[in-house]
Amino acid sequence: MFSKNIQNLKTSPVRELIPYSKKAKEAGIDIIHLNIGQPDLETPKEFFEAVENFGQETIAYSDSSGRKELIDSVKGYYKNLGMNYDSEEILITAGGSEALLFTLMTLFDAGEEVLIPEPYYANYNSFFAMLGIKVVGIPTQFEDNFKLPKKEVIESLVTEKTKAIMFSNPGNPTGSVYSKDELLMLNEISKEKNLFLISDEVYREFIYDGKDTVSCGTFSDNLERIILIDSISKRFSTCGARVGTILNKNKEFMAYILKLCQSRLSISTLDMVGAEALYRCKDRAYYEVVNAKYMERRDFLYEGLKNIEGVVLNKPEGAFYCIVQLPVEDATEFSKWLLGEFSYDNSTVMLTPAKGFYQREELGVNKVRISYALDLDRLEKAVKIIELGLKKYNSK
Ligand SMILES: Cc1ncc(COP(=O)(O)O)c(C=O)c1O
Repeated sequence: MFSKNIQNLKTSPVRELIPYSKKAKEAGIDIIHLNIGQPDLETPKEFFEAVENFGQETIAYSDSSGRKELIDSVKGYYKNLGMNYDSEEILITAGGSEALLFTLMTLFDAGEEVLIPEPYYANYNSFFAMLGIKVVGIPTQFEDNFKLPKKEVIESLVTEKTKAIMFSNPGNPTGSVYSKDELLMLNEISKEKNLFLISDEVYREFIYDGKDTVSCGTFSDNLERIILIDSISKRFSTCGARVGTILNKNKEFMAYILKLCQSRLSISTLDMVGAEALYRCKDRAYYEVVNAKYMERRDFLYEGLKNIEGVVLNKPEGAFYCIVQLPVEDATEFSKWLLGEFSYDNSTVMLTPAKGFYQREELGVNKVRISYALDLDRLEKAVKIIELGLKKYNSK
Protein backbone atom coordinates (compact mmCIF):
# COMPACT_ATOMS: atom_id res chain seq x y z
CA MET A 1 0.00 0.00 0.00
CA PHE A 2 2.81 2.43 0.86
CA SER A 3 5.92 3.05 -1.17
CA LYS A 4 8.95 0.84 -0.69
CA ASN A 5 11.07 3.95 -0.34
CA ILE A 6 9.03 5.28 2.56
CA GLN A 7 9.06 1.89 4.22
CA ASN A 8 12.83 1.84 3.96
CA LEU A 9 13.16 5.11 5.82
CA LYS A 10 15.55 4.71 8.72
CA THR A 11 14.40 6.26 11.97
CA SER A 12 16.37 8.75 14.00
CA PRO A 13 19.02 7.20 16.25
CA VAL A 14 17.35 8.60 19.32
CA ARG A 15 13.86 7.28 18.58
CA GLU A 16 14.35 4.07 20.55
CA LEU A 17 14.90 6.17 23.65
CA ILE A 18 11.85 8.39 23.41
CA PRO A 19 9.47 6.12 25.39
CA TYR A 20 12.09 5.99 28.16
CA SER A 21 12.53 9.77 28.25
CA LYS A 22 8.76 10.24 28.32
CA LYS A 23 8.47 7.97 31.34
CA ALA A 24 11.30 9.74 33.14
CA LYS A 25 9.67 13.11 32.47
CA GLU A 26 6.33 11.82 33.76
CA ALA A 27 8.12 10.73 36.93
CA GLY A 28 9.27 14.32 37.40
CA ILE A 29 12.92 13.72 36.46
CA ASP A 30 14.78 16.61 34.86
CA ILE A 31 16.35 15.36 31.63
CA ILE A 32 19.52 17.01 30.41
CA HIS A 33 19.35 16.74 26.64
CA LEU A 34 22.78 15.87 25.33
CA ASN A 35 20.99 14.50 22.27
CA ILE A 36 19.81 17.77 20.73
CA GLY A 37 21.73 19.68 18.06
CA GLN A 38 19.98 22.96 18.65
CA PRO A 39 21.91 26.01 19.89
CA ASP A 40 20.48 27.36 23.14
CA LEU A 41 21.81 30.92 22.63
CA GLU A 42 19.38 33.74 22.02
CA THR A 43 18.54 34.59 18.42
CA PRO A 44 20.01 38.08 17.79
CA LYS A 45 17.37 40.78 18.32
CA GLU A 46 17.90 42.16 14.81
CA PHE A 47 15.97 39.16 13.46
CA PHE A 48 12.84 40.07 15.42
CA GLU A 49 13.20 43.80 14.74
CA ALA A 50 13.34 43.20 11.00
CA VAL A 51 10.22 41.03 11.15
CA GLU A 52 8.39 43.63 13.27
CA ASN A 53 9.30 46.35 10.78
CA PHE A 54 8.21 44.31 7.77
CA GLY A 55 5.52 46.92 7.16
CA GLN A 56 3.45 45.14 4.51
CA GLU A 57 -0.19 44.31 5.01
CA THR A 58 -0.08 40.96 3.29
CA ILE A 59 2.48 38.23 3.70
CA ALA A 60 2.83 37.38 0.04
CA TYR A 61 4.80 34.59 -1.61
CA SER A 62 8.38 35.62 -2.28
CA ASP A 63 10.41 34.77 -5.36
CA SER A 64 10.90 31.01 -5.53
CA SER A 65 14.64 31.55 -5.65
CA GLY A 66 14.54 33.61 -2.44
CA ARG A 67 14.14 37.33 -1.69
CA LYS A 68 16.58 39.43 -3.65
CA GLU A 69 17.62 41.32 -0.50
CA LEU A 70 18.50 38.03 1.20
CA ILE A 71 20.46 36.75 -1.79
CA ASP A 72 22.39 40.03 -1.81
CA SER A 73 23.23 39.72 1.85
CA VAL A 74 24.27 36.05 1.46
CA LYS A 75 26.48 37.14 -1.43
CA GLY A 76 28.13 39.70 0.84
CA TYR A 77 28.70 37.13 3.57
CA TYR A 78 30.43 34.79 1.10
CA LYS A 79 32.46 37.62 -0.38
CA ASN A 80 33.85 38.33 3.08
CA LEU A 81 34.98 34.70 3.17
CA GLY A 82 36.80 35.10 -0.13
CA MET A 83 34.15 33.38 -2.29
CA ASN A 84 32.56 35.11 -5.26
CA TYR A 85 29.12 33.75 -5.99
CA ASP A 86 26.79 35.68 -8.31
CA SER A 87 23.10 36.01 -7.51
CA GLU A 88 22.16 33.26 -10.02
CA GLU A 89 24.57 30.94 -8.24
CA ILE A 90 22.67 31.22 -4.94
CA LEU A 91 19.24 29.72 -4.20
CA ILE A 92 17.41 30.03 -0.90
CA THR A 93 15.72 26.93 0.50
CA ALA A 94 13.63 25.92 3.51
CA GLY A 95 16.63 25.17 5.73
CA GLY A 96 19.72 23.20 4.87
CA SER A 97 17.44 20.16 4.87
CA GLU A 98 15.59 21.26 1.74
CA ALA A 99 18.89 22.29 0.15
CA LEU A 100 20.12 18.72 0.67
CA LEU A 101 16.92 17.12 -0.55
CA PHE A 102 16.78 19.23 -3.72
CA THR A 103 20.45 18.60 -4.43
CA LEU A 104 20.04 14.85 -4.11
CA MET A 105 16.83 14.87 -6.17
CA THR A 106 18.65 16.71 -8.93
CA LEU A 107 21.72 14.50 -9.04
CA PHE A 108 20.52 10.97 -8.38
CA ASP A 109 18.35 8.35 -9.97
CA ALA A 110 17.29 5.40 -7.82
CA GLY A 111 20.05 2.82 -7.52
CA GLU A 112 22.88 5.32 -7.94
CA GLU A 113 25.53 5.63 -5.27
CA VAL A 114 26.77 8.32 -2.92
CA LEU A 115 30.10 8.08 -1.13
CA ILE A 116 30.04 9.39 2.39
CA PRO A 117 32.49 9.21 5.28
CA GLU A 118 30.86 7.35 8.13
CA PRO A 119 29.69 8.09 10.78
CA TYR A 120 27.48 10.77 9.20
CA TYR A 121 24.46 12.96 9.99
CA ALA A 122 21.64 10.44 10.36
CA ASN A 123 18.96 12.52 8.64
CA TYR A 124 20.85 12.11 5.37
CA ASN A 125 19.52 8.55 5.51
CA SER A 126 15.94 9.72 5.14
CA PHE A 127 16.80 11.54 1.93
CA PHE A 128 18.80 8.59 0.60
CA ALA A 129 15.98 6.16 1.37
CA MET A 130 13.28 8.42 -0.10
CA LEU A 131 15.18 8.63 -3.35
CA GLY A 132 16.47 5.06 -3.46
CA ILE A 133 20.10 6.22 -3.29
CA LYS A 134 22.62 3.59 -2.26
CA VAL A 135 25.04 4.71 0.45
CA VAL A 136 28.64 3.58 0.27
CA GLY A 137 30.43 4.43 3.51
CA ILE A 138 33.98 5.77 3.35
CA PRO A 139 35.69 4.15 6.34
CA THR A 140 37.16 6.45 8.99
CA GLN A 141 38.65 5.61 12.38
CA PHE A 142 37.49 6.80 15.78
CA GLU A 143 41.12 6.44 16.91
CA ASP A 144 42.45 9.17 14.59
CA ASN A 145 39.49 11.51 14.98
CA PHE A 146 37.78 10.39 11.79
CA LYS A 147 40.39 11.60 9.31
CA LEU A 148 39.75 10.66 5.70
CA PRO A 149 41.52 7.53 4.47
CA LYS A 150 44.08 7.63 1.64
CA LYS A 151 43.00 8.65 -1.84
CA GLU A 152 43.36 5.08 -3.17
CA VAL A 153 40.92 3.79 -0.54
CA ILE A 154 38.26 6.29 -1.56
CA GLU A 155 38.90 5.75 -5.27
CA SER A 156 38.48 2.02 -4.86
CA LEU A 157 34.89 2.63 -3.72
CA VAL A 158 33.92 4.50 -6.88
CA THR A 159 31.82 2.52 -9.37
CA GLU A 160 30.08 3.57 -12.57
CA LYS A 161 27.02 4.26 -10.42
CA THR A 162 28.74 6.75 -8.11
CA LYS A 163 27.45 10.28 -8.59
CA ALA A 164 28.80 12.28 -5.67
CA ILE A 165 30.87 12.45 -2.52
CA MET A 166 29.01 14.06 0.33
CA PHE A 167 30.13 15.15 3.80
CA SER A 168 29.53 17.66 6.57
CA ASN A 169 32.46 19.84 7.55
CA PRO A 170 32.78 20.63 10.47
CA GLY A 171 31.25 17.26 11.15
CA ASN A 172 28.05 16.16 12.75
CA PRO A 173 28.27 13.72 14.61
CA THR A 174 32.07 13.56 14.81
CA GLY A 175 33.08 17.13 15.72
CA SER A 176 36.06 16.67 13.40
CA VAL A 177 37.16 19.16 10.77
CA TYR A 178 38.85 18.27 7.48
CA SER A 179 42.21 19.83 6.65
CA LYS A 180 42.80 21.68 3.41
CA ASP A 181 44.82 18.71 2.15
CA GLU A 182 41.99 16.28 2.82
CA LEU A 183 39.53 18.51 0.98
CA LEU A 184 41.91 19.03 -1.93
CA MET A 185 42.25 15.26 -2.18
CA LEU A 186 38.45 14.95 -2.44
CA ASN A 187 38.51 17.68 -5.06
CA GLU A 188 41.07 15.69 -7.09
CA ILE A 189 38.89 12.57 -6.91
CA SER A 190 35.87 14.62 -7.94
CA LYS A 191 37.70 15.88 -11.03
CA GLU A 192 39.31 12.58 -11.98
CA LYS A 193 36.15 10.51 -11.54
CA ASN A 194 33.67 13.21 -12.56
CA LEU A 195 31.78 13.21 -9.25
CA PHE A 196 29.92 16.05 -7.58
CA LEU A 197 31.19 17.17 -4.17
CA ILE A 198 28.37 18.02 -1.79
CA SER A 199 29.89 20.00 1.03
CA ASP A 200 27.51 20.59 3.92
CA GLU A 201 28.99 23.55 5.77
CA VAL A 202 26.17 24.50 8.12
CA TYR A 203 28.62 24.50 11.06
CA ARG A 204 31.21 26.66 9.28
CA GLU A 205 31.77 29.15 12.11
CA PHE A 206 31.85 26.47 14.80
CA ILE A 207 35.55 25.68 14.67
CA TYR A 208 37.89 26.04 17.62
CA ASP A 209 41.46 26.80 18.64
CA GLY A 210 41.70 29.85 16.40
CA LYS A 211 41.28 27.93 13.15
CA ASP A 212 39.03 28.70 10.17
CA THR A 213 36.98 26.13 8.28
CA VAL A 214 38.35 25.59 4.79
CA SER A 215 35.40 25.84 2.44
CA CYS A 216 35.46 23.90 -0.82
CA GLY A 217 33.98 27.08 -2.30
CA THR A 218 37.40 28.76 -1.98
CA PHE A 219 39.02 26.30 -4.40
CA SER A 220 40.38 27.72 -7.63
CA ASP A 221 38.84 25.06 -9.88
CA ASN A 222 36.06 22.46 -10.13
CA LEU A 223 33.48 24.90 -8.78
CA GLU A 224 30.85 23.60 -11.20
CA ARG A 225 31.00 20.25 -9.37
CA ILE A 226 31.23 21.71 -5.86
CA ILE A 227 27.83 22.20 -4.25
CA LEU A 228 27.78 24.12 -0.99
CA ILE A 229 24.95 23.50 1.44
CA ASP A 230 24.36 26.16 4.04
CA SER A 231 21.85 27.28 6.65
CA ILE A 232 21.22 30.00 9.21
CA SER A 233 19.98 27.47 11.79
CA LYS A 234 23.19 27.07 13.75
CA ARG A 235 25.05 30.18 12.62
CA PHE A 236 22.52 32.58 14.15
CA SER A 237 20.74 30.26 16.58
CA THR A 238 17.61 30.32 14.42
CA CYS A 239 16.74 26.64 13.89
CA GLY A 240 13.01 27.40 13.67
CA ALA A 241 13.45 30.01 10.95
CA ARG A 242 13.76 27.73 8.00
CA VAL A 243 16.35 29.38 5.76
CA GLY A 244 19.06 27.47 3.93
CA THR A 245 21.16 27.99 0.82
CA ILE A 246 22.54 26.09 -2.16
CA LEU A 247 25.55 27.63 -3.89
CA ASN A 248 26.98 26.30 -7.13
CA LYS A 249 28.39 27.59 -10.43
CA ASN A 250 26.92 24.97 -12.77
CA LYS A 251 24.12 26.75 -14.66
CA GLU A 252 22.30 23.56 -15.61
CA PHE A 253 22.33 22.23 -12.05
CA MET A 254 21.02 25.54 -10.70
CA ALA A 255 18.26 25.66 -13.35
CA TYR A 256 17.02 22.26 -12.17
CA ILE A 257 17.14 23.31 -8.52
CA LEU A 258 15.20 26.45 -9.41
CA LYS A 259 12.49 24.27 -10.98
CA LEU A 260 12.16 22.42 -7.67
CA CYS A 261 12.04 25.75 -5.82
CA GLN A 262 9.29 26.90 -8.16
CA SER A 263 7.28 23.76 -7.53
CA ARG A 264 6.99 24.69 -3.84
CA LEU A 265 6.37 28.35 -4.73
CA SER A 266 8.21 30.11 -1.94
CA ILE A 267 9.73 29.68 1.47
CA SER A 268 8.62 31.71 4.48
CA THR A 269 8.83 35.40 3.56
CA LEU A 270 9.19 36.56 7.16
CA ASP A 271 11.96 34.10 7.94
CA MET A 272 13.85 35.51 4.97
CA VAL A 273 13.28 39.07 6.19
CA GLY A 274 14.85 38.17 9.53
CA ALA A 275 17.69 36.24 7.89
CA GLU A 276 18.68 39.07 5.58
CA ALA A 277 18.96 41.43 8.58
CA LEU A 278 21.26 38.98 10.32
CA TYR A 279 23.50 38.42 7.32
CA ARG A 280 23.71 42.20 6.87
CA CYS A 281 24.53 43.20 10.43
CA LYS A 282 26.47 40.28 11.89
CA ASP A 283 30.17 40.16 11.22
CA ARG A 284 33.22 38.36 12.48
CA ALA A 285 32.87 39.94 15.93
CA TYR A 286 29.52 38.18 16.43
CA TYR A 287 30.86 34.81 15.29
CA GLU A 288 33.83 35.20 17.62
CA VAL A 289 31.63 35.76 20.67
CA VAL A 290 29.51 32.70 19.85
CA ASN A 291 32.58 30.67 19.04
CA ALA A 292 34.23 31.53 22.38
CA LYS A 293 31.12 30.30 24.23
CA TYR A 294 31.12 26.97 22.41
CA MET A 295 34.86 26.52 22.82
CA GLU A 296 34.48 26.98 26.58
CA ARG A 297 31.77 24.31 26.58
CA ARG A 298 33.86 22.02 24.40
CA ASP A 299 36.85 22.35 26.74
CA PHE A 300 34.72 21.77 29.80
CA LEU A 301 33.02 18.69 28.39
CA TYR A 302 36.21 17.21 26.99
CA GLU A 303 38.13 17.60 30.26
CA GLY A 304 35.21 16.28 32.28
CA LEU A 305 34.60 13.20 30.15
CA LYS A 306 38.18 12.19 29.52
CA ASN A 307 38.78 11.93 33.27
CA ILE A 308 36.06 9.32 33.69
CA GLU A 309 37.52 5.84 33.87
CA GLY A 310 37.09 3.89 30.65
CA VAL A 311 35.65 6.81 28.66
CA VAL A 312 37.50 7.59 25.42
CA LEU A 313 36.96 10.55 23.14
CA ASN A 314 38.79 12.82 20.74
CA LYS A 315 38.94 16.53 21.36
CA PRO A 316 36.23 17.94 19.09
CA GLU A 317 37.62 20.44 16.60
CA GLY A 318 34.35 21.91 15.38
CA ALA A 319 30.52 21.85 15.38
CA PHE A 320 29.15 21.01 18.83
CA TYR A 321 29.20 17.24 18.92
CA CYS A 322 31.53 14.44 19.82
CA ILE A 323 31.50 10.69 19.59
CA VAL A 324 32.29 9.17 22.95
CA GLN A 325 33.28 5.56 23.57
CA LEU A 326 31.87 4.24 26.84
CA PRO A 327 33.09 1.32 28.98
CA VAL A 328 29.88 -0.63 28.32
CA GLU A 329 29.04 -3.38 25.88
CA ASP A 330 26.00 -1.71 24.42
CA ALA A 331 25.62 2.06 24.61
CA THR A 332 21.94 1.92 23.60
CA GLU A 333 21.14 -0.27 26.62
CA PHE A 334 23.14 2.05 28.87
CA SER A 335 21.31 5.10 27.49
CA LYS A 336 17.95 3.44 28.15
CA TRP A 337 19.06 2.52 31.66
CA LEU A 338 20.10 6.12 32.39
CA LEU A 339 16.64 7.31 31.44
CA GLY A 340 14.68 4.49 33.00
CA GLU A 341 16.56 3.54 36.10
CA PHE A 342 19.06 6.15 37.13
CA SER A 343 18.96 9.67 38.43
CA TYR A 344 21.19 11.93 40.43
CA ASP A 345 19.77 14.98 42.19
CA ASN A 346 16.48 14.16 40.43
CA SER A 347 18.14 14.53 37.01
CA THR A 348 19.41 12.27 34.26
CA VAL A 349 20.83 12.64 30.76
CA MET A 350 19.59 11.68 27.32
CA LEU A 351 22.38 10.50 25.01
CA THR A 352 22.24 9.54 21.35
CA PRO A 353 23.42 5.98 20.65
CA ALA A 354 26.05 6.29 17.91
CA LYS A 355 25.24 3.14 15.95
CA GLY A 356 22.54 4.99 13.98
CA PHE A 357 25.20 7.28 12.50
CA TYR A 358 27.07 4.34 10.95
CA GLN A 359 26.40 2.22 7.91
CA ARG A 360 28.25 -0.56 9.67
CA GLU A 361 26.31 -0.27 12.92
CA GLU A 362 28.68 -2.52 14.85
CA LEU A 363 31.28 0.28 14.84
CA GLY A 364 29.02 2.46 16.96
CA VAL A 365 27.68 -0.09 19.42
CA ASN A 366 29.74 1.04 22.44
CA LYS A 367 29.60 4.74 21.52
CA VAL A 368 27.24 7.68 21.90
CA ARG A 369 27.04 11.09 20.33
CA ILE A 370 27.03 13.96 22.76
CA SER A 371 25.92 17.45 21.83
CA TYR A 372 27.23 20.34 23.93
CA ALA A 373 24.78 23.03 22.88
CA LEU A 374 24.01 23.55 26.58
CA ASP A 375 25.22 25.95 29.25
CA LEU A 376 28.11 25.06 31.54
CA ASP A 377 25.98 24.35 34.63
CA ARG A 378 23.93 21.78 32.72
CA LEU A 379 27.07 20.26 31.22
CA GLU A 380 28.69 19.98 34.64
CA LYS A 381 25.73 18.11 36.00
CA ALA A 382 25.59 15.92 32.88
CA VAL A 383 29.23 14.85 33.26
CA LYS A 384 28.60 13.98 36.91
CA ILE A 385 25.54 11.89 35.94
CA ILE A 386 27.50 9.99 33.28
CA GLU A 387 30.32 9.31 35.74
CA LEU A 388 28.06 8.10 38.55
CA GLY A 389 25.81 6.27 36.13
CA LEU A 390 28.69 4.30 34.60
CA LYS A 391 29.97 3.34 38.08
CA LYS A 392 26.59 2.04 39.12
CA TYR A 393 25.83 0.36 35.79
CA ASN A 394 29.12 -1.48 35.71
CA SER A 395 28.86 -2.64 39.31
CA LYS A 396 25.53 -4.36 38.63
C1 LIG B 1 25.15 18.34 9.19
C2 LIG B 1 23.81 18.98 9.10
N1 LIG B 1 23.37 19.36 7.90
C3 LIG B 1 22.17 19.94 7.75
C4 LIG B 1 21.35 20.16 8.83
C5 LIG B 1 20.01 20.76 8.55
O1 LIG B 1 19.72 21.89 9.27
P1 LIG B 1 18.55 22.89 8.85
O2 LIG B 1 17.58 22.18 8.00
O3 LIG B 1 17.99 23.35 10.15
O4 LIG B 1 19.24 23.99 8.13
C6 LIG B 1 21.77 19.77 10.11
C7 LIG B 1 20.92 19.95 11.29
O5 LIG B 1 21.18 19.54 12.38
C8 LIG B 1 23.04 19.17 10.24
O6 LIG B 1 23.51 18.76 11.43
